[in-house]
Amino acid sequence: MITVRNLTKVYQVPIKGKSFLSDIFNRQYQENVALNKISFEIAEDELVGFIGPNGAGKTTTLKILAGILYPTAGQVSVVGYTPFEKKAAFLRQISFIAGQRNQLIWDLPVIDSFYLNKEIYQISNPDFNKRIDELSSLLNCRHLLNKPVKMLSLGERMKMELIAALIHQPKIIFFDEPTIGLDIFSQETIRHFIKNYQKNYRATIVLTSHYLEDVKRMAKRLIIIDKGKIIYDGSLKRILQEYSKGKKVSLFLENEAKPELIYAIGRPVTYEYPKVVFFIKKEDLPEKIKLITKTLPFTDLTVEDESIERIIKNFFKNQ
Ligand SMILES: Nc1ncnc2c1ncn2[C@@H]1O[C@H](COP(=O)(O)OP(=O)(O)O)[C@@H](O)[C@H]1O
Ligand SMILES: [Mg+2]
Repeated sequence: MITVRNLTKVYQVPIKGKSFLSDIFNRQYQENVALNKISFEIAEDELVGFIGPNGAGKTTTLKILAGILYPTAGQVSVVGYTPFEKKAAFLRQISFIAGQRNQLIWDLPVIDSFYLNKEIYQISNPDFNKRIDELSSLLNCRHLLNKPVKMLSLGERMKMELIAALIHQPKIIFFDEPTIGLDIFSQETIRHFIKNYQKNYRATIVLTSHYLEDVKRMAKRLIIIDKGKIIYDGSLKRILQEYSKGKKVSLFLENEAKPELIYAIGRPVTYEYPKVVFFIKKEDLPEKIKLITKTLPFTDLTVEDESIERIIKNFFKNQ
């Protein structure tokens, strides 16, 4: 579905000269290598999480895949097309959705922007009505269709962006930070929606996010990029298992315990009676849990995975 071979992107960035005139007549450029020969393949029906620090090259990659940017070198093929040729048949099958970009018309009711896309993609009336109906009920936002865009909250606007971008039922979707800036409830709705959309339409999805929770909830496969190079491409599960160092164990104590009993388990991450939290290494877990049950009187005990943020940090430290 998507094939990328030795993809390289170099931005030419003008250097500010000594004066305005030297800037105009003798402009100097600096080369900024955003992508350095990256290669990967994505099969039909996959939902891939694409992560990495700020400036790693995620947006650049997605824009090249969507035909918005020209590559400097390398081969890119998406559903058999070369994206930057922007053939109509290609554009009809893809969508690029950025959390920060706005394709809706600010002053007009949302539905008018949808009508515009209906014309662009030449969608028939029955199809159009059916899709609006379906998408807006999935996103629980039917009541917003006639409101001007400027009256919507950020979360509501993102839902509308999704409808606008999906109304032509693309087979391939590039999401660039779709949940950025949203409150956790809207984030959850959008995650849920994207996951279901992928399942129902067997769409191929590449998703970038700096909320690792997004990726954890949605993707099975993870590509990690850093400074324009791919440093991991594989299953999310594997990286979580390999780079997770331990678990968070929280207790609610029945009564205040002697410090030596607490410290026998380990130095607590936090201790505010009645709650005490330990971080226990994977290999010590069985033994420490046994010790806890034997020596500490608790009313509740929970064992949680390390946060995905921590795990990815561990992974980066290992590079
Ligand atoms: N239009 C541009 N002109 C010059 N440099 C750019 C431009 N867009 C991005 N870059 C640079 O390319 C690199 C990758 O950027 P980007 O793809 O936006 O990263 P990410 O989305 O992972 O944060 C960064 O060093 C960034 O500063
Ligand atoms: Mg970006």
